[in-house]
Amino acid sequence: MTDKLWGGRFTAKAEEWVDEFGASINFDQKMAYEDLEGSLAHVKMLGHQHIIEPEEAQQITIGLKSLQDDLGAGKLKFTVANEDIHLNLEALLTEKIGPVAGKLHTARSRNDQVATDFHLWLKHRLPNVLDALKNLQIEVVNLAEQQADTIMPGYTHMQHAQPITYGHYLLAYFEMFERDYERFEFNQKHTNISPLGAAALAGTTFPIDREMVAEELGFEQVYHNSLDAVSDRDFAVEFLSDASILMMHLSRMAEELILWGSYEFNYIELSDDFSTGSSIMPQKKNADFAELVRGKTGRVYGGLMGLLTTMKALPLAYNKDMQEDKEGVFDVMDTILAAINVFNGMLSSLTVHKEQLNHATQNDFSNATELADYLATKGIPFRQAHAIVGELVLKGIQTHTSLQDMPLADLQKASDKIEADVFEDLKSDVAVNRRTSLGGTAVENVKKEVQRAKQIIEQK
Ligand code: ARG
Repeated sequence: MTDKLWGGRFTAKAEEWVDEFGASINFDQKMAYEDLEGSLAHVKMLGHQHIIEPEEAQQITIGLKSLQDDLGAGKLKFTVANEDIHLNLEALLTEKIGPVAGKLHTARSRNDQVATDFHLWLKHRLPNVLDALKNLQIEVVNLAEQQADTIMPGYTHMQHAQPITYGHYLLAYFEMFERDYERFEFNQKHTNISPLGAAALAGTTFPIDREMVAEELGFEQVYHNSLDAVSDRDFAVEFLSDASILMMHLSRMAEELILWGSYEFNYIELSDDFSTGSSIMPQKKNADFAELVRGKTGRVYGGLMGLLTTMKALPLAYNKDMQEDKEGVFDVMDTILAAINVFNGMLSSLTVHKEQLNHATQNDFSNATELADYLATKGIPFRQAHAIVGELVLKGIQTHTSLQDMPLADLQKASDKIEADVFEDLKSDVAVNRRTSLGGTAVENVKKEVQRAKQIIEQK
């Protein structure tokens, strides 16, 4: 027998570096609080069901609570020799209260224990993600309200397409963050299930009360299949997947902040707090934080790919491979909370160069669709109208003249349907404000959507 807690059938003792490879204590100690919480609920149930003597349950409870205090005070010392957080805490409990500590593991396995800890860990933290996302949404909507009538070029293929407002652009991100919010809310549903009592894989012969434990821990439900209870990591994969989609959104916006803050665009300026200088080029003001959010998207996707790959082809039920499930989730949680907060800060301190944005629609051809639509409403088939305007645009490019700066006579040479009222339609603010179709960019729409967005936030 070795000195391991599970050492009964072992004769040889592993070398330290081998222990190190198998151990998870260096990272799963992040779940120490949850492990104690789970044990407290479990022992309460063991006592209640007379699976152990009520006095023994009492002794164990006192020991666990004292470990909680030690944990809070930063006094717990973990060791690789005890492999993981579960065995470390059990050993520490034994030090405190003696062999009765060994009764805690009745009707329980580390397999349902680790699953419970992991569920609890995520369950405790998902509300932080929702709060952070809500705050980001508030910031996005505030900025959208301020910029509801700021005209700018809308892009497709990174080419000027049609004029939009900056507020409209921002509300597109509000919608994305709203779907992110809903996804994380849904993630709570699958995280809120108690695996405890599934034991190693098959359930237990002891008369346990799983529902009591679940209620004690604040879980909404229990797993109804013991194999599923110990092998399910969907809730973690879902979290990583939701986080990846969120980062994809943040990264797209980060890209625009970086690009639009450049000399060539000069649409916006990030505050000094969210920029950095260069050690050699005194003039530089770099969008490091936006770049880092864009960059950290890679590690979040990595977390998702890592766990998907770990879980792929794992036979039921528990396999040690699953010990690899935690680090990615821990890291991704820290990363997305920080990324959301950085975004919040960047947006609340952003300077928007209204004039520059508006100016960008003045000397371009983003009003070409307006002219084609104008001709179409005068009865010219749209395809033909498109061709007429295309030729005018070509002429405009060659002579460096925007459509609105061409003499009426020249426009009329292209089509006799064109009259002086065309110049009204060619103004970018008119182009914006005529787009009143549901979801369109008209300022009145944007203002209405800002109110709708505010209501959505208020209901949270
Ligand atoms: N440290 C392990 C993990 O994180 C705990 C479960 C171990 N169970 C076992 N049967 N070896 O997955």
